[in-house]
Amino acid sequence: MTHEDYLGRVTQYIKASDDELAQFKAITSYHAGKYDEDASWQSLNQYVTENENSRGCVAGHRNRVYYMALPPSVFVPVAKGLKKNVYAEDGVNRLIVEKPFGMDTDSSNDLARELGALFPENEIYRIDHYLGKEMVKNVMTMRFSNIFFSQIWDRKYIDNVQITFKETIGTEGRGGYFDDFGILRDVMQNHLLQVLSLIAMERPISTESEAIRDEKVKVLKCIPPISADDALLGQYVAANGKPGYLDDDTLKNKQSRTPTFAALTLWIQNERWEGVPFIMKAGKALDSAKVEIRIQFRNVAGSLYKGAPRNELVMRVQPREAVYIKFNNKQPGLSYSTIQSDLDLSYHDRFTDMQIPDAYESLILDVLRNDHSNFVRDDELETAWKIFTPLLHQIDQRADLPLHTYPYGSRGPAELDAFVRKYGYDRSNANYSWPVQSVSHVNSSNKL
Ligand code: BG6
Repeated sequence: MTHEDYLGRVTQYIKASDDELAQFKAITSYHAGKYDEDASWQSLNQYVTENENSRGCVAGHRNRVYYMALPPSVFVPVAKGLKKNVYAEDGVNRLIVEKPFGMDTDSSNDLARELGALFPENEIYRIDHYLGKEMVKNVMTMRFSNIFFSQIWDRKYIDNVQITFKETIGTEGRGGYFDDFGILRDVMQNHLLQVLSLIAMERPISTESEAIRDEKVKVLKCIPPISADDALLGQYVAANGKPGYLDDDTLKNKQSRTPTFAALTLWIQNERWEGVPFIMKAGKALDSAKVEIRIQFRNVAGSLYKGAPRNELVMRVQPREAVYIKFNNKQPGLSYSTIQSDLDLSYHDRFTDMQIPDAYESLILDVLRNDHSNFVRDDELETAWKIFTPLLHQIDQRADLPLHTYPYGSRGPAELDAFVRKYGYDRSNANYSWPVQSVSHVNSSNKL
């Protein structure tokens, strides 16, 4: 690539004014080399050093951030090349690593060992961009700064938890990458498990990064490996003029049994959560695009208002961030019917002047600030892999695990509703859908 080709590539999707784009291009350089050749790294080092010198960078302030968004097979050669030839002895060095961090417990541990021999843990930032999303960062604030949540956040009040990830696009053009990983490795073992750990962890002793990460690891250690009985797997097929997963040109194995959809139930064996199913659902080529956390509370014991639906707390991660609580209320007016309404904190209505940064924007700033809270620690990663590895190996090796098909653009496999019901999710008020437009659909059978 030429320098110009490079600039064209990296700026093609940036939404910015011409002036901003010109400023960005002026500070962006392209320097090519080979991953496994010292001479390439030395020439990079020289290039960076000259750049630092030209900006008046003095000794002790050669602070360098390396960002490895690379195929995992070259993580170690690149980290070696950097450490040997580019590492600033008179400054701060930080290494950002993009997933995938291995394929299972063993390969991840191997990678961790090799990287750990080169860079100490406090210089490594394993990025999981879900931890940079506004609503994910809000989980701790919401849980630990509201007294009513701290009191009802356990098995006594919560019936089930669902964490849902839906995308409307398939794997078109990314089939080569995706087929080795599947939906479990692509978004569940990392993004959704991170969300789960924030919902389920105990209160950290402080907001220091190690205090938070200690609690996340602790709760993950209480989760046994996911059983195949608690898994529903699917793969999309052609529909609505869209190709099926196996039709993708970039897919080499045309018999692939890689799941593009999964619903998995995880159990946390501790005093707070014993018996509460945490259901993760994730899929490509579905009917809508959204990510949300849904906490369904138990029925009111001895309720005066029979048939009143359960309360739910929903954190809408994307699109259009919101927190809302499904809430029962007397129908206003002369009637004594119970209606379900909501307490709705929709960000775009409430925080109208606020611009929410992109997850990566916020995480890169965290790296510059040396804040590890929203990055994955080595022991956390290992624990996360232990929860998923046995099931992943079964999926990789056993042809007899059921793989349900679903049409491109649908809600997922037909078996999904029964799967979620099996774990107690009660969709008792199918009339309600958020955001509520009007309350004209009152269910009169809910009368006292
Ligand atoms: C990535 C996965 O990590 O996350 C993709 O590799 C997925 O397959 C993406 O589409 C989702 O991220 P976001 O921010 O668009 O929800």
